[in-house]
Amino acid sequence: MEGSERALVAEFGPGSVLTDPADMAPFLAGWFHTGTGAALAVLRPRATEEVRAMVRACGRLGLGIVPQGGNTGLVGGALPQDPKRHVALCLGRLDRIRAIEPDDYSAVVEAGCILQTVKDAVAGHDLFLPLSIGAQGTSQIGGVVSTNAGGINVLRYGMMREQVLGLEVVLADGSLWDGLRTLRKNNTGPDLKQLFIGAEGTFGIVTAAALRLVPRPATRASALIGLPDLEATMRTFHLARRACSDLLSAFEFLMPPAMEIAVAAQADAPELASPAAVYALIELAAPGPVDLQALLEGFLAEAAEAGLVEDGILATSEAQAQRIWALRESVNEGQARMGRSLGSDVSVRLSALPRFVREACAEIEAAVPGARAVAYGHFGDGNVHLNVFPPTGAGAAPAGEALARAKAVLNACVDRHGGSISAEHGIGRLKRADFDARLHEPARTMLRGLKSTLDPDGRMNPGALHV
Ligand code: LAC
Ligand code: ZN
Repeated sequence: MEGSERALVAEFGPGSVLTDPADMAPFLAGWFHTGTGAALAVLRPRATEEVRAMVRACGRLGLGIVPQGGNTGLVGGALPQDPKRHVALCLGRLDRIRAIEPDDYSAVVEAGCILQTVKDAVAGHDLFLPLSIGAQGTSQIGGVVSTNAGGINVLRYGMMREQVLGLEVVLADGSLWDGLRTLRKNNTGPDLKQLFIGAEGTFGIVTAAALRLVPRPATRASALIGLPDLEATMRTFHLARRACSDLLSAFEFLMPPAMEIAVAAQADAPELASPAAVYALIELAAPGPVDLQALLEGFLAEAAEAGLVEDGILATSEAQAQRIWALRESVNEGQARMGRSLGSDVSVRLSALPRFVREACAEIEAAVPGARAVAYGHFGDGNVHLNVFPPTGAGAAPAGEALARAKAVLNACVDRHGGSISAEHGIGRLKRADFDARLHEPARTMLRGLKSTLDPDGRMNPGALHV
């Protein structure tokens, strides 16, 4: 054991400092195809005070700290890459729900709480934390705050940023910023908590969050519909917002290759009578007495009459709704089994989405003959996961080269449409070069200034986000 490891073990004990490669392995294995990490040690604090002490100890030892939650990120932001100078600081043992206050529609929870656990706990008070992501059974609150996670309910409730009322943060020098307030309105100057949301742990370590809750939707209505093209999908989306009194909580889309993957991965997948050019998954939800089923039926009738919707399945039971929504998860599960691919998470203005998807898929398939573009995502947010699979049978090197070419074509198309190369997954380590290439003055100077003020020695998540 080297000097730094020994010092950490001596101060915090072997239960809180893992140094054995086998013990560290689960914390250094990336989710999907994000690679693996390397670290001197994995630190597992049990309380905010211990996080502070560990940050101070790492400061004395000159170690970089990579905070980690559920390790479900898709851009490598929580994976340290230096076996001698970096530690992973895992928040999973800070898992107390400190308070649920129904009268304030708020909860205060620690960073290591699993998202699903918090959702279940507040559901017991008839409340809802409106962040719905595939990884919610594993991802942790500190992680979803630090990455400003998105998901399928963003359309109605906004991203994680919108669910945060206050934060508790351990800063790079070990000091504690207690910003854990649950006020709805507090207009006393710049909102400091925003600095840490989406900062991927590069400005400080989120140890607890005060969350905004909403009344739990007691009923929902879901449908799977087939549409003739993306323009019709957009008109259908606009119609749905009005015809369903803006009670839409999700409006997702799958292009045929994504639907094929989902159907192949799901045993009891619901299927439309005939294939469509675009598939949309729609959900309405409401906490009070509204006949959502009637609203959805009325809207679908109107959309069919306007020639927008060709075919559809309206869920008549919760079990059927679950099968429809399982399709959305099956796209990811199916792809995970298909081997190496280019994963992407881009966005454009909603009005540009139809043209963007068509152009990007066509340009990628033209630039990389034999490649397969799989597009799906959060239609209502203009957010497309456009993933690319290399030509079948390509060896590792040609496949890597093909995916690099596909990424360049995709990013150029995003730029041409004035979009974002990361709509919801963040920058982490995997998108740093692409982020850097698009960072212009005075944004770069502002970001550098913030970083040097909050983390003058560059020890907070080194290698992530910043350039
Ligand atoms: C999704 C993840 C990949 O929407 O963001 O499925
Ligand atoms: Zn997504």
